[in-house]
Amino acid sequence: MSRYRIAVIPGDGIGVEVTAPTVDLLEHLADRAGFEIAFDHFDWSCARYQETGAMMPPDGLDQIRDHDAILLGAVGWPGVPDHVSLWGLLIPIRRRFQQYVNLRPISVMPGLPGPLRDPGEVDFVVVRENVEGEYSEIGGRFSTGTAQEMAVQEAVFTRAGVTRIVDYAFDLATTRRGHVTSATKSNGIVHTMPFWDEIVRERAERQPSVSWRQEHIDALAAKLVLDPSSFDVIVGSNLFGDILSDLAAAVAGSIGIAPSANLDPERDFPSMFEPVHGSAPDIAGKGIANPIGALWSASMMLDHLGEKRSGDALLAAIRATLADGDVRTPDLGGTATTRELAAAVQEAISL
Ligand code: NAI
Ligand code: MG
Repeated sequence: MSRYRIAVIPGDGIGVEVTAPTVDLLEHLADRAGFEIAFDHFDWSCARYQETGAMMPPDGLDQIRDHDAILLGAVGWPGVPDHVSLWGLLIPIRRRFQQYVNLRPISVMPGLPGPLRDPGEVDFVVVRENVEGEYSEIGGRFSTGTAQEMAVQEAVFTRAGVTRIVDYAFDLATTRRGHVTSATKSNGIVHTMPFWDEIVRERAERQPSVSWRQEHIDALAAKLVLDPSSFDVIVGSNLFGDILSDLAAAVAGSIGIAPSANLDPERDFPSMFEPVHGSAPDIAGKGIANPIGALWSASMMLDHLGEKRSGDALLAAIRATLADGDVRTPDLGGTATTRELAAAVQEAISL
């Protein structure tokens, strides 16, 4: 029997509330499908930071290095600057574990009221470069406190880093509808973006069956709203991918349903699965957070672990529950609690 050991980091706010039913549902699935799954919980969070001065212990990454995957809720809390929670936990995990692919599938779920009148058949994936690019520590501030004060921040693009993310996107496209859109801005950003474009053009030749185009990020953002059904795989740098995937999640309906995966495709390290949303302090503690983003992320985790049948069953149950529409959390216009919606999904699972 296959056995998996999962590191669970619920984090802050609704991260804790959506992670608990997700763990329960995974245990249920394991029973049904006949695999073993065990969970180790880690209290790494802003709450921990406020008590101890660190988001995680100094040897934190070593403690989860050998787990099969990481399930994360959300981190961030008022009173702790967001760059502390991000750079103290998420970014170290992504970088040390070489999770260079951030994958965010976007689809308009049947029966969900989104902000667009007539979005058509929306089903695409944003592939975001996750370890380099614009999110770099290189730079500095000078002449602080004077009228000449300035700040410089360098973007870092490496041939190896761009090549592997572009290859991942083109390979993924071969398993889907065979089209890649590359997000660029080589008209305004004259060094890194032309470099990105060149590598896309070179690597596209590896997959002649995949068609591709490049679009400037501003026009691409507009098109994502005006014609979202025209996309299949979108590949972008760390910053562009970050913005596009939140925009895309909003286009698809609610931020509460959007999932994501931080993948080390080489599988040298554990990959991490987390809903796109944050800790939502405005609704935390009320038990009404939408658990779908966390559950869908768990379905991606099952796929990654090789339990595709269970992953598919979970995703099908999510679709069926949303389409049915009887049980919905307030963000989707209903009155159900987090637990009630998760229970409805569990009920809908057929394995
Ligand atoms: P947020 O995603 O927490 O909330 C934005 C809005 O969406 C809020 O009105 C919230 O109530 C709603 N919302 C989010 N998830 C929901 C769900 N599952 N069900 C129902 N409604 C939901 O983003 P915000 O407010 O910008 O950030 C709050 C904190 O979370 C910050 O400290 C931020 O740094 C952190 N954050 C952490 C992320 C992570 O752990 N990866 C990602 C985004 C934000
Ligand atoms: Mg974001």
